[in-house]
Amino acid sequence: MRWKRSLALFLLASLAVTAALGASTVFAAKSQLVVYSWWTAGGEADGLNALIQLYTKKYPDVEFVNATVAGGAGTNAKAVLKTRMLGGDPPDSFQVHGGSELIDTWVKTGYMEPITQLYKDNGWLKVFPKSIIDMLSYKGEIYAVPVNVHRGNCLWYNKKLFAEYKLTPPTTFDDFFKVAEKFKAKGIPALALASRTKWEVAHLFEDILLGTGGPKFYNDLFAGKIAWTDARVKKALNTLKKMLDYVNADHATLTWDQACGLVLQGKAAMTIMGDWAKGYFTSNGWKPNVDFGVVPSPGTKGMFVVVNDSFGLPKKAKNRENCLKWLALLGSVEGQNAFNPLKGSIPARTDVPRTPYDPIALATMDDFAKDTLVPSCVHGSAVIDSFASALNDEMGVFVNERNVEATAKRLEQQAKDLGVRQ
Ligand code: GAL
Repeated sequence: MRWKRSLALFLLASLAVTAALGASTVFAAKSQLVVYSWWTAGGEADGLNALIQLYTKKYPDVEFVNATVAGGAGTNAKAVLKTRMLGGDPPDSFQVHGGSELIDTWVKTGYMEPITQLYKDNGWLKVFPKSIIDMLSYKGEIYAVPVNVHRGNCLWYNKKLFAEYKLTPPTTFDDFFKVAEKFKAKGIPALALASRTKWEVAHLFEDILLGTGGPKFYNDLFAGKIAWTDARVKKALNTLKKMLDYVNADHATLTWDQACGLVLQGKAAMTIMGDWAKGYFTSNGWKPNVDFGVVPSPGTKGMFVVVNDSFGLPKKAKNRENCLKWLALLGSVEGQNAFNPLKGSIPARTDVPRTPYDPIALATMDDFAKDTLVPSCVHGSAVIDSFASALNDEMGVFVNERNVEATAKRLEQQAKDLGVRQ
């Protein structure tokens, strides 16, 4: 009898332990936050990691899933994202450019939840610039939180090389070609270029378009009001063609950060790239205005190509509450100032302490406040995705064929076929 009672007690105790263990397993199970981006290169990844650290410190119970797809400007990531979104499996939040990429691709099609209330609750309507909020809005609702503002039209240069040859960084196209000749004579590629994923050439080209035709022409062109066969487009293509005479021979094998690497190693004198290049340089130990400097890309003084990274809340997000906490962090002073000094961008908020920023970032903040702002095409804001990627592809062809007439004609046809021009 006694052994029976002992067995019963043992079984009861085992059940209790199992139940307790089960319960503790349930309590310990972490919920997730899946954040999708293409920030894998030097500077970009550092900025993202700073945000991840902040988030996981604040919310230790949430497992942060850093879902990245490598490839600058999101050329690969955006395609994978489309598959996920259309397949009903969205990440909880994803990197998106304000403007057309957010509004035309995801908001008008009904994939995003408005987050206007978050702006009201946090007093953000007063601290983010109207120009940025407008890029994130549709029919009176706001759909994403801007984590930064990048400047697209920057010419970066190696200070040591310029000092060695007693040259001044060029601010006009004429000066650019004079300086480029000098470097060529010394056997140094003047302009570091990457063309492996094509968008880098399109990035250079949009800066040339702005420098050639000015902001009104640039805006009208991307709005479909000017033909791609216009004389000013051809002038910009001819300038690009001439610039290609001064680039590194191996551009077809390089990505944007590797092209920046040539400047860093003194193997090229300059590069034209957004200020994520600054994030790359500083993450590799270079000091702003000591080892490298920057001027607006030729002909664009007083103009500012806005590249904006934002995050929103997809309708079918599996971890909605965790996403809202993420968005609140991105919009906070703490979040903006943890991210931007590493990323190379300036904060989108205008009320943050300026102390963590290097002198180049401080000058960029001042320029952003007074310059004429234009949206980037290559970085998703100015025009629908399909035309932006058509332009990337055309630039991939141009870099090899260098045929101005044929390229202008094909771009005009693409603009018509894709509904950008009537
Ligand atoms: C841009 C993005 C930047 C930077 C860059 C290179 O499209 O807005 O944050 O990541 O691509 O990858």
